[in-house]
Amino acid sequence: MDAGPNPSKPSVEQYPDPDRLSRAAAQRFVRIARRAMTDRGRFTVVLSGGSTPRRLYFLLAAPPFRNEIDWSRVEFFWGDERTVPIDHADSNFRLAYKAMIEKLPCAQTQIHRYRVEIPDRPAAARDYQGEIARCFQLPADGEPPAFDLVLLGLGSDGHTASLFPHTEATGEKRRWVVCNPVPQLKTERFTLTAPILNRARNILFLVTGADKAAAVHAVIKGPTDTERFPAQLIRPVTGQLTWLIDEPAASRLGG
Ligand code: 6PG
Repeated sequence: MDAGPNPSKPSVEQYPDPDRLSRAAAQRFVRIARRAMTDRGRFTVVLSGGSTPRRLYFLLAAPPFRNEIDWSRVEFFWGDERTVPIDHADSNFRLAYKAMIEKLPCAQTQIHRYRVEIPDRPAAARDYQGEIARCFQLPADGEPPAFDLVLLGLGSDGHTASLFPHTEATGEKRRWVVCNPVPQLKTERFTLTAPILNRARNILFLVTGADKAAAVHAVIKGPTDTERFPAQLIRPVTGQLTWLIDEPAASRLGG
């Protein structure tokens, strides 16, 4: 079990700036990966999109962190994906692939991306659920598997992955993956749902920037309102939830 000292209680760690936060995240990534490989022979990780994790990805793809992991035993997944081609600037797959994965000694079979090229988007979401199920050798219509690590970001509106406020996916209780209409962005987004995210052994939020301070306070300290602040849906069943937050983003948390 990778859970920390008290798996039911989130831990909140502050860092002076994004660089030191990203280093701390890289150290934790390596620790969780090595523990997973010892316990289960491989490391299954869900990558986040957005700009915050880019620093982490660059750090992991270069020494010293690069040399700390047997990358041939890592299985890469994504927490969400935009409905754009994989070579589009907005693609979360492209972000992680260019910043990290293409520099690592790993096989294409270890990279489990959304097949955004499938024109029927609900079918593409079901396809991704099937991909996850195959990797864990589970039936695709049963209980979701437990990822070793899920990386998440936080939007200034309180969204995480592509679980946006007042959207259908926030209420999903059964499916692991959905294509979520996001009217406020005039688009649809593929996203993992709370049932599968919350099965993870370790969930790590990476949040930087003063523009996130209000959302950080609302999600961590405010009353529960998961429709308005979907990041509050993230409550691991038995795993460890950790927030790595830089000082500007933590400025409303108080003592
Ligand atoms: C995405 C992410 C999204 C992101 C937050 C924070 O596809 O954009 O999955 O949930 O983590 O929007 O993004 P930043 O890290 O860029 O602030």
